[in-house]
Amino acid sequence: MSVDYSVQGSVAVLTVDNPPVNALGYGVRDGLKTGIEKAVGDSQVKSVVIIGKGRTFPAGADIREFGKPSREPWLTTNGQLIETSSKPVVAAIHGTCLGGGLEIALFCHYRIALPFAKVGFPEVALGLIPGAGGTQRLSRLTGLPVAMEMIYSGRHVPINKAKEYGIIDEIVTGDLLKAALEFAQSIQGRPFKDRCLKFKAVPGADRVEEYASAAMSQVKKKYKGYEAPMACVQAVRASAELSYEEGMKFEREVFGQLLESGQARAQQYAFFAERAVTRWQMPGGSYKTAKPLPVRSTAVIGGGTMGSGIAVCLLSAGLPVYLLEQNEKFLQSGVNMVKNIMAGSAKLGKISMETAKKAATLLKPTLSYEDLRDVDLVIEAVYENLDLKREVFSKLDKVCKKSAILCTNTSTIDIDRISTATSRPESVVGTHFFAPAYHMKLLENIYGTRTSPNAVATVMKLGKTINKVPVLVKSCHGFLANRMNAPFGSEAIFLVEEGASPQEVDQANEDFGMPIGPFKVRDLSGIDISWRINREVAKAMGTTITKETRFLGGNRYCGLNDDFYDRGRYGRKTGKGWYRYEKVGGKIPVVDTESQEIIQSYRERRGIVKRKITPQEIHERQFYSCINEGFRILDEGICNTPEEIDISWIYGFSFPKYRGGPMFYASQIGLQKVYQRICHYHQTCPYSIHWVPNRLLKKLAENNVPFSEWANHVSKSRM
Ligand code: 3HC
Repeated sequence: MSVDYSVQGSVAVLTVDNPPVNALGYGVRDGLKTGIEKAVGDSQVKSVVIIGKGRTFPAGADIREFGKPSREPWLTTNGQLIETSSKPVVAAIHGTCLGGGLEIALFCHYRIALPFAKVGFPEVALGLIPGAGGTQRLSRLTGLPVAMEMIYSGRHVPINKAKEYGIIDEIVTGDLLKAALEFAQSIQGRPFKDRCLKFKAVPGADRVEEYASAAMSQVKKKYKGYEAPMACVQAVRASAELSYEEGMKFEREVFGQLLESGQARAQQYAFFAERAVTRWQMPGGSYKTAKPLPVRSTAVIGGGTMGSGIAVCLLSAGLPVYLLEQNEKFLQSGVNMVKNIMAGSAKLGKISMETAKKAATLLKPTLSYEDLRDVDLVIEAVYENLDLKREVFSKLDKVCKKSAILCTNTSTIDIDRISTATSRPESVVGTHFFAPAYHMKLLENIYGTRTSPNAVATVMKLGKTINKVPVLVKSCHGFLANRMNAPFGSEAIFLVEEGASPQEVDQANEDFGMPIGPFKVRDLSGIDISWRINREVAKAMGTTITKETRFLGGNRYCGLNDDFYDRGRYGRKTGKGWYRYEKVGGKIPVVDTESQEIIQSYRERRGIVKRKITPQEIHERQFYSCINEGFRILDEGICNTPEEIDISWIYGFSFPKYRGGPMFYASQIGLQKVYQRICHYHQTCPYSIHWVPNRLLKKLAENNVPFSEWANHVSKSRM
């Protein structure tokens, strides 16, 4: 039974028991209906308590039921039964009372909660609005501005705030059931019909226009491209403009339309994908069998931009960090960077003042490897150079205790080439952070051929501890994210070489939903950095890049980036790059004639006749080449599922969640179409290896394999 019915004295207790989060699936809804009807018909019962067993009050509708035929009783049926009950009903809340769970609570006549409980309407994160009265009922309690903000942001509201808003009647401590029974007894005999929200007027309804337009402008700023947040505002607005019944009808219609939309499907996919990637597997171990080692103390080698950002992540989670640099000057600069980031985060309210203060005491700057003798985990974040990294690991091997996990923040180098500098390659693992490390949520964890599953379990757990989304991949050059990003970035440059402007390429990407186009990204990360990476790649191939270079390792090469480098245009840091900026370090890109001249003279030098390139071609060439690489990554076993790729792109490169990630997006376009276009570009651009159509993609496209089956075909394709 998903809902247990018991009577304690004069109070009926309905205990929802549907682990892990008491989602309101069919069984729970049916159990609640039966329970309420039974309580109403039981003459011994004078009041009713609804409570959740285990870790939480219901955390929402059962998302797994979306898209399947709906079964009565619906949540609103439960709600109406509660609201019209002849006996008062009390919601006793602990854990996370979310979505449909909060809607049930709002149908109850009273709500009490434990101090650490949270409430919220996170439907917006699933591409939806609340669909069982939340948009019509919350505003009647809290007023319009709070209801609009809570629903369009989806944030989880701490219980003391919820009490301030009027959502919670009483915060109780100790045993929740005991407190709920006492509360339910205390209200017996009191009139309670005025507690039904549907009869209440919406406070501030006369200013609805003003509130809605303020909320809408926030939504447009913060959630560009997303449909649901706007619909949230419109639905709450309806609560002030329509009767309760009409408002409920409006909410139902909008909920139904969104449920059928591509965005909701993609966002729900992303919700489950994010959880699926925690179930990692590698040769010899998995999340089920491997044991994470305790991490109580850490060290970061290198106090540059990445190293300081990584130190901030560890410190914010309350972990002590040794920050090691090679000299006093660099060390001081690293410490200052850490302090500035922490101060900035505290100012923006991202971390508390206490966390920032505590972090200052946890940071231990050092110049000596000897200090790292007892740390549990070290993250190396020095400059991307194999010899240097090997030198660092050889030193770590000499001083660190045997059980220490040695991590590298390399963004491209094969882990095996680094781990062989130690006598313990089983303890060496990649922990690739994305810039800015304290902000981007992806942690790409990488295992080499000799990395132990326990080392992997340790960094997967560490990812959660520092509030990242960890994804596990097998080592190869560029791993998952940067390997897929390579054709994406190369095609951007080739498109400009052939005739597009950087702003046209950026615009096509931003129209698709990327927060910032690839040329603005290059200006941000530094043209000198991509220049250096190209040289490292050439060096690894035993060759050099000159003005004449057109191919690198048999692959098409464009030297436009080098021309910008030669002119000292490194991007924002020099005030000019692909764009011009108002000042050195400026943030607002302006189209620049010198930039256009560099591009045009490059084309003339190479005899390229500029042609008009459509936004569709820009889109296909960047995203389809990266999707093809994604299939190659799956095919080679660099990762196991398309979910791992999609989550990496959502959290590493801010791919729009409402499109689900590049692989899910490919499934929505249709693999046959994607495959045909890749074949077309392979014919028209034969000198780019990334256009060689992948065989797994070909097989899935030809057999019209649905997305849910892709992962099953992956393992077979590797045989
Ligand atoms: N439906 C179905 N399954 C759910 C679920 C839901 N609403 N919420 C969580 N789960 C599942 C997860 O998929 C996961 O399954 P797994 O173990 O097989 O991977 C398991 O429950 C545990 O979830 P988490 O790993 O996320 O556990 P946490 O403790 O980290 O977080 C939580 C708990 C905060 C409740 C988080 O799970 C969450 O945010 N859930 C979604 C809440 C939500 O969106 N509610 C609104 C639903 S839509 C709705 O109610 C519509 C209504 O208005 C009509």
